Amino acid sequence: MRQAGRYLPEYRALREKADGFMKLCLNSKLSCEVTLQPVSRFNPDAAILFSDILIVPYGLGVGVDFIEGKGPILDAVNDKSDLVRLNYQVNKNRIESTYDTVRLCREKLSADKVLIGFAGSPWTVATYMVEGGSSKNYVKVKSWAYKDRASFSALIDIIVDATIQHLTAQIESGAEVIKLFDSWAGVLSPKEFYEWVILPTKEICEQIKAKHPLVKIIGFPRGAGPNYIDYVNKTNIDAVATDTSVCPYWSAKSFDEEVIIQGNLDPVSLIVGGDAMLREASSIIKAMESRPHIFNLGHGVLPETPPENVERLAAYIHSIDKR
Ligand code: CP3
Repeated sequence: MRQAGRYLPEYRALREKADGFMKLCLNSKLSCEVTLQPVSRFNPDAAILFSDILIVPYGLGVGVDFIEGKGPILDAVNDKSDLVRLNYQVNKNRIESTYDTVRLCREKLSADKVLIGFAGSPWTVATYMVEGGSSKNYVKVKSWAYKDRASFSALIDIIVDATIQHLTAQIESGAEVIKLFDSWAGVLSPKEFYEWVILPTKEICEQIKAKHPLVKIIGFPRGAGPNYIDYVNKTNIDAVATDTSVCPYWSAKSFDEEVIIQGNLDPVSLIVGGDAMLREASSIIKAMESRPHIFNLGHGVLPETPPENVERLAAYIHSIDKR
């Protein structure tokens, strides 16, 4: 997940050598190396591509930069008149190195490791595009959606189309599973959630599946609370990633049986480590006994996490697998 690399000294060393985060994301050789770093260390069952959700706005022609200590800064899309600036067909060459990274990773990963490609969900990507970066209250982006639904919907449609093309290209370059990160799904009221999270996610799933029916799609509507149920039932995703706040017993009994659940250890217990961490992990696994489950965290690894704790957790999970 986001910032996941930051707790690894080998990531930090490579990041220092690269000339900025965007350049690192767009350099296939280095991005492939970053993708493989945790695989060599922890031997997980899957690798997630090293890239960022803000690559899609960059591929639409938006200026994107990451400022040390400040986070992402984007050339904001303010209103309807700015939509003409967004053109994926003209600008997608800016991000095509991503697909070389996917090909390189697939070549270098052993056949038993799954490669996960990803994108941000349209709502979450729209928050960064309209706010011009991270936000506290989402006033700009929500106000646009309330005031002028037609033009906000046009923005979402532009992101949906670009996301479908970006994910399709990742799949055709070797990604076997894809994940949609909707980090800010939880800030919407239920009606807005339906409109800006469920409908665009459904559209992406349907179009991807029409072309690539065997590819599995994981959706992560972080903070969705009770809206998780509608998300699972109405979007056509194959797997749902649950955030830390979701009770695993509740998800096990509430989600459609066909759906695979991913999650959801609190990243802070990975900082704590030791028996406390293993107890938490084991209680999640117990709750998921009756269901297909992909063990994961409820959100990204925090920068202060000791890598030894991740190693211990991975070994523990694998020891359960063998039982
Ligand atoms: O885990 C991984 O390394 C896989 C690749 C990945 C990154 N970002 C790399 C990254 C993934 C899957 C993401 C997704 C992402 N990016 C999300 C959704 C997941 C989530 O955490 O909710 C979001 C919201 C973003 C946007 C983004 N990227 C932010 C807000 C930041 C933090 C900026 C800051 O300085 O605090 C990033 C940076 C980022 N993306 C880093 C990494 C490894 C850290 C950059 C660094 O090296 O400084």
